[in-house]
Amino acid sequence: MRDYLLAPSILSADFARLGAEVDAVLEAGTDIVHFDVMDNHYVPNLTVGPMVCKALRKYGVTAPIDVHLMVSPVDRIIGDFIEAGATYITFHPEASDHIDRSLQLIRSGGCEAGLVFNPATPLHYLDYVLDKVDMVLLMSVNPGFGGQQFIPKTLDKLMEARRLIDASGLPIRLEVDGGVTAKNIRQIAEAGADTFVAGSAIFGAGDYRAAVSAMRAELAL
Ligand code: DX5
Ligand code: ZN
Repeated sequence: MRDYLLAPSILSADFARLGAEVDAVLEAGTDIVHFDVMDNHYVPNLTVGPMVCKALRKYGVTAPIDVHLMVSPVDRIIGDFIEAGATYITFHPEASDHIDRSLQLIRSGGCEAGLVFNPATPLHYLDYVLDKVDMVLLMSVNPGFGGQQFIPKTLDKLMEARRLIDASGLPIRLEVDGGVTAKNIRQIAEAGADTFVAGSAIFGAGDYRAAVSAMRAELAL
């Protein structure tokens, strides 16, 4: 069995109580904090920036923070997130003028770097940079909002990405983001994902521990 990671997306958390919410989902058995950064430019929504990442570290969050940049331009915010305590920093290749440079910037700051693929973005952006990537993130919804339906075609793309990663022999995580629930997580894992973002399926549940256990149970089958 793969080493599976559950990544609750704080997009669906109660922002007025963010520290406590993050503690609660981690205590419920999740592994990494998925931190959605939206700029009302690359995507039609506005969320949080490096200050909030830094505040979570100051508050005492020690789990990895998985920063998903939905911003354009990309490069000028990378340094701030490195300084704010990000663990992973992923960005959309269409949003960067110089993908190789952005990846190098992230790694040179000691963070893990990743590329994010929208549902209609081809995987060929990986062709010449696979060795500079620690994470491949496939969007299974169009970015911008939580609570959308999983796009089934993502399963084919996951299989393709899994083949690429396995053929490379590199230790690259394959993450999926959007519409992940206890009902579809097993199928998503079977298609090759090892890291699962879930926003509404966890934060929208009354009992976080029960929601996380239901996902883990599906992964253990
Ligand atoms: C969407 C974000 C996701 C979102 C997922 O642009 O990148 O991380 O929060 O939310 P759910 O799990 O509700 O689809
Ligand atoms: Zn995300």
